[in-house]
This record gives sequence, C-alpha cells and structure tokens, in this order.
Amino acid sequence: MDTKVLKPSDENIKLAADIIVNGGLVAFPTETVYGLGVNALLNDGAPKVYMAKGRPSDNPLIIHLSDSKDAEMYCHTNEAYYKIADLFMPGPVTFILPKKDIIPSCVTGGLDTVAVRVPANPIANKLISYAGVPIAAPSANLSGRPSTTTADHCIADLFGKVDAIIDGGECEIGLESTILTEKDGKLKLLRPGGVTVEMLEKAGFEVDIDKAVLSKLSDNEKPLAPGMKYRHYAPIAQVTLLDGTYNAVLDYMLNALDDNDTYVLCFEEDIVINKHKRAIIIGSNKDKSQQAHKLFAVLRDLDENPQIKRVLAKLPSTDGIGLAIFNRLLKASGYNILKID
Ligand code: TXA
Ligand code: MG
Repeated sequence: MDTKVLKPSDENIKLAADIIVNGGLVAFPTETVYGLGVNALLNDGAPKVYMAKGRPSDNPLIIHLSDSKDAEMYCHTNEAYYKIADLFMPGPVTFILPKKDIIPSCVTGGLDTVAVRVPANPIANKLISYAGVPIAAPSANLSGRPSTTTADHCIADLFGKVDAIIDGGECEIGLESTILTEKDGKLKLLRPGGVTVEMLEKAGFEVDIDKAVLSKLSDNEKPLAPGMKYRHYAPIAQVTLLDGTYNAVLDYMLNALDDNDTYVLCFEEDIVINKHKRAIIIGSNKDKSQQAHKLFAVLRDLDENPQIKRVLAKLPSTDGIGLAIFNRLLKASGYNILKID
C-alpha cells in the first residue's frame, strides 16, 4: 500500500479525514501517543486496524470524539462520565461505558461496552471534526512494540500498511491515556496515564486501582481492560527493575556496567553513572513528565541495538504520573523486579 506522510496543514487534515470516512487507515498524533485511526461506524473498519498492527481482535479499540457530548450518540452515559468530561476532557483520559448498537462489535472485541476519549491535540481534534464520525484508534504501533510518540516511529512500524501518517511532531505526554470506568459508585482505574490518581482524588472521586495496574495477574484472572494481559512494550533486551535505596541501586548499576552487553536507564542527577557510554539519561529525577515523555522513545532506541542483552532501571515511585511510568516499565520488564539492599 502507498502510504502518504502528511504535514498537518488544514488541507492535509481534510484529506486524511476523507480517507477515514471512506474506510482507510490514518496514523495521527494525539497528546498521549499516536493513534491508528479508522471510521468506527464501519463493520469492516476495525478488522483492518487489527490486521495492520498484528493485534489480537479480542483487544477492543477506543473511539475518539471531538466533543464529549457526542458520547450520547454511541453509548449510555452516566453521571461519573459527565463529571470526568467536565473536568478532564479534552485530555488524556478514556472512559468505558455501555455501548449502543451503532458501534459495531468488531470495535469492542465483542464486549458490550465501549471506551471513549476526546483528545486535546488540535490536529486530532480537527481530524475527528472534519471526518464527522467517531475514529476508532489503538496506539499506532505494531502489536508488542512500544507505543509510537513521533511520526518516525509510525513510519518504522506502519509504512506500507496504512493510507496516511500525519506528522504532528512529538506527543506531549508520551504515555497512553488514563482508562477509567465506574463500578459500585467508585471510579475504577484500569490503566494509569496523564490524568493521575491524585488529580481524580482532588476532584472528590474515590479511586480503586485495578490489580492488573500494579501486578501480574495469574493465568485464570481476567483483567477489566483486555489489553492489560498482553506483554506490551517489551524491548528485546531483558529489562530488570531495581528496588532498593538510591545508593544501593547506583552501586549495583556501576558493577553491572562491567558487562559490555548491559545498559542502564538513569537521571541527569545521577552523576556517578550518567557519563558512562552505556548509561541512557531519561530526564531529570525531579521531572516525571519529562521521563514519561521520553520513555517509549528510549525503549525503541534500545531495540535498535541487538547487542544489548540487559537493561537496568530504578523501580519508579508511584506518585503522580509516576504510576503510569511504573506500570509501563513493569510490563516492559515482564514483571521482573530485583530487590537489593
Ligand atoms: O492514549 C490512548 O489511549 C491512545 C491514543 C491513540 O488515544 N490509545 C491507546 O489505545 O492506547 P490502545 O488500543 O493501545 O489501548 C487501549 C486499551 C487496551 O488495553 C484495551 O484493552 C482497553 O483500552 N479497552 C478498550 N476498550 C475497552 C473496553 N470496552 N473495556 C475495557 N477495556 C477496553
Ligand atoms: Mg497500545
């Protein structure tokens, strides 16, 4: 397939919207990660997305709207949804609601619920408005690879498999949206992201964090978000998360760097280690947003070098967007945490 790489001019966004309306595939930027969009109302739309990504079709897609009120056309809304919409939409949050029949079951992997999101990125917002239909979109990466946060990542994974890629530069947040649903009068957090637990609690919500966010489920447990069961974001090298004091972790890393096939992820402030040629700086220790912004690009870079056998990172703290970084690194490591003293 011929893939057009488009600059985000109005004319090009209109062209991309036409492609969507007519059943084509378009990778587009959002403030979280790039999405791989298709017209959500077509029965043969979602299957094309699953095919291009190599994604299991039981893993449902999020529908992207330009206005949170449009959710009424596609699902049965509730009070919690309106509160979240008022406070955080457009923005990096997705809400799961019972679906209406107009949404084909191929979009929801056969579930009777649908995930709804209103991206804040102006290119995404225009694309959805011009298309005039909800856009079903997973992250625009090949299944099992880290999500894409630049057009170059999309080109690497999807060139030749999609009709167009809109180049909107780097995604601001860099990690996928927070996924929420309402259960027994509480909010259930299915995936952490840019709208943090602290922000939700400050707004007066009681938040219950799904077990799959923090730990590996056993084989007979089913996560509420089907995608949480897949080993995502896994670089080829084995990632190990080190759980210990600051000094113990740095000592361990320094020793481990004696092996030529070992790399470490560290911070600008870690001066005992960060000049090493196999140390990758993922931002400032104090700036979790910067770490989130860089994480997937760093994981992708690691995959470019098949020589790397082992990657060490400090187990992140779970406050603010740290919970999302923790969750993505936990999955990248295959839940491999090493306790050191
Ligand atoms: O930031 C994001 O959310 C990005 C951008 C493109 O919007 N999208 C994204 O989509 O991360 P995806 O498909 O990579 O992840 C969506 C997650 C999956 O884990 C999926 O299982 C879950 O949402 N999900 C979708 N619909 C669901 C539903 N009806 N019930 C439970 N989980 C659902
Ligand atoms: Mg994804």
